[in-house]
Amino acid sequence: MRKFLIAGNWKMNKNYDEALQLARAIQQRAVNEKKINIGVFVPAPYLREMSLESPDLIVGAQNIYWEQYGAFTGEISPPMLRSLGISWTLIGHSERRALFGETDEDVNRKTVAALKHCFFPIVCVGETLSQREKKTTLDIIGKQVKELFYEIPADMARSVTVAYEPVWAIGTGKTATPDDAEEVHAYIRMIITSLYGREISDEVRILYGGSVKPSNAASLLKMRNVDGALIGGASLNKEDFISICDTAVSIDKREGK
Ligand code: PGA
Repeated sequence: MRKFLIAGNWKMNKNYDEALQLARAIQQRAVNEKKINIGVFVPAPYLREMSLESPDLIVGAQNIYWEQYGAFTGEISPPMLRSLGISWTLIGHSERRALFGETDEDVNRKTVAALKHCFFPIVCVGETLSQREKKTTLDIIGKQVKELFYEIPADMARSVTVAYEPVWAIGTGKTATPDDAEEVHAYIRMIITSLYGREISDEVRILYGGSVKPSNAASLLKMRNVDGALIGGASLNKEDFISICDTAVSIDKREGK
């Protein structure tokens, strides 16, 4: 059984005091929570404090670089994050790809570097609106997923979480229908099975992201291959985020699996 992971991606939001308040509220919700994992991906300057303050949360970085040390102004390396006690990171979010020019190859290099330093990376894939309209969604996703796993051995692949985030659904209020999301999630799992076999593909969590909110979380999380959510906008509001966590706890998929 894959446990749900409900993760907030705060992006470049909240000043320090606001962030601390939000983290505290979510930490309180996470105490004694055994059924699901709850995570927050916070701005880099807050990582150390948030992880110390939030022992029951996964506290992760929003980005990571593939080199270890050196002349790479502004970048943060896997060993640096590890030295802060951080072992989770997002990789290849569509904003990184679109605004900062990250390619599938960069995403793979980051994933390999993160795994070598024993991280649990959440690697994002997703098609644009025009790709969906041209009906090339599965081709695009297939390529992104194969490239992210390029040269990653099976024993490391199991530490990866994939997040399916259709670009047209991020921050737009538009969400993939549960059936559309399930189609892509099942396809991603099939590719992972073809690369690593059933045992590993059964283990890898595939999150959905893109305008997840309290009103649509249940219908998405009920889908067989949806193992959690990566949430932007709604994760900045403690009531909304906690309500999505509560929804996840209330869903029992054991019979369907
Ligand atoms: P959203 O963002 O929930 O605001 O659509 C999701 C994401 O970018 O991870």
